[in-house]
Amino acid sequence: MLDMPAIRQDLNTVYDLAPNPDLAASMGDIYARMSRVVSPADWAIHAPYVAAINALKKQRNATILAHNYMMPEIFHGISDVVGDSLQLAVEATKTKADVIVQCGVHFMAETSKILNPSRIVLMPDMGAGCSLADSITAAGVEQMRAKYPGAPVVSYVNTTAEVKAASDICCTSSNAVQIIRALEAETIIMTPDKYLAQNVAAQVPEKRIVWWDGSCIVHEQYTAQDIRDFREWNPDTRIIAHPECPPDVVAEADFSGSTSGILDYVSRERPARAMLVTECSMASNISDAHPEVEFIGPCNMCPYMKMITLEKVLWSLHTMTTQIEVAPAIADKARLAVQRMIDLSAQKA
Ligand code: 13P
Ligand code: SF4
Repeated sequence: MLDMPAIRQDLNTVYDLAPNPDLAASMGDIYARMSRVVSPADWAIHAPYVAAINALKKQRNATILAHNYMMPEIFHGISDVVGDSLQLAVEATKTKADVIVQCGVHFMAETSKILNPSRIVLMPDMGAGCSLADSITAAGVEQMRAKYPGAPVVSYVNTTAEVKAASDICCTSSNAVQIIRALEAETIIMTPDKYLAQNVAAQVPEKRIVWWDGSCIVHEQYTAQDIRDFREWNPDTRIIAHPECPPDVVAEADFSGSTSGILDYVSRERPARAMLVTECSMASNISDAHPEVEFIGPCNMCPYMKMITLEKVLWSLHTMTTQIEVAPAIADKARLAVQRMIDLSAQKA
């Protein structure tokens, strides 16, 4: 576990990190991207970190890949690329930077290392895991193979490198339907998200999809009754759900898609009011770019995503820790599964 008081003390001996309203005002162009959701007082606290990280990034020839669930000061303040799991994985294959700082959770950093092993991949907090990745091991994949002989295994990218290595192909929430349709087999094993599998099965009825019993602790909390109650209270709100939600929740929604799918939908449809049935930062991060949309309703916070902070990113780049390592034999097999997914998604797109 990171010793934050000691880290804070060390950082303050090197960088001037005191709240700084003048510096914040001089970085108004960056603040403009989050001014609907971050107060000026908070921006004065974040600005010294943002300035220090952006300068250090140049020195280290580093790039920051940030998931859509990062907090606005990370998403808008320091990232070079933002996106959903698929977009971040594709970007990891392309980057020319020497160092990748993964602002997301552990499986995302591992995926970047698998796809670009010659780069240093930094994880600001190794404790930032994922309930889905924790739910299955490679032995679990073998168990499923024994139960459904001959069925290919499609594993969500929200898995460890070992699980990817034991799978035939990966998928993300933005390409899962596409990947399942493209496979010739009649029976397909999906791991580890039972709800994503059930949501895909509803869209691809010609296949028999069997699944592992995993779920996302953020999305499984929503119930269909919550959505119905919300609609009754606020009838003209567009309800948009992530496919990690239970199928009866997705059935109550107006649209379901990955985090980039949610952004595309909002940009295209420009509803007057929207409720995003997903992680809280999603609405915050797209709020300033869509002033015509009022984002309302409850959201759930991912405790793992929220472990990534500006302070930890600065420490990570300053000390070049923690570097992600994946054993080459595992990485080679896992790369095949992820690359197959990327190639197939590109083909179909
Ligand atoms: P996407 O960004 O691919 O939709 O995934 C959501 C998620 O839960 C990542 O952890
Ligand atoms: Fe994992 Fe869910 Fe958090 Fe995404 S939101 S990292 S799937 S626990």
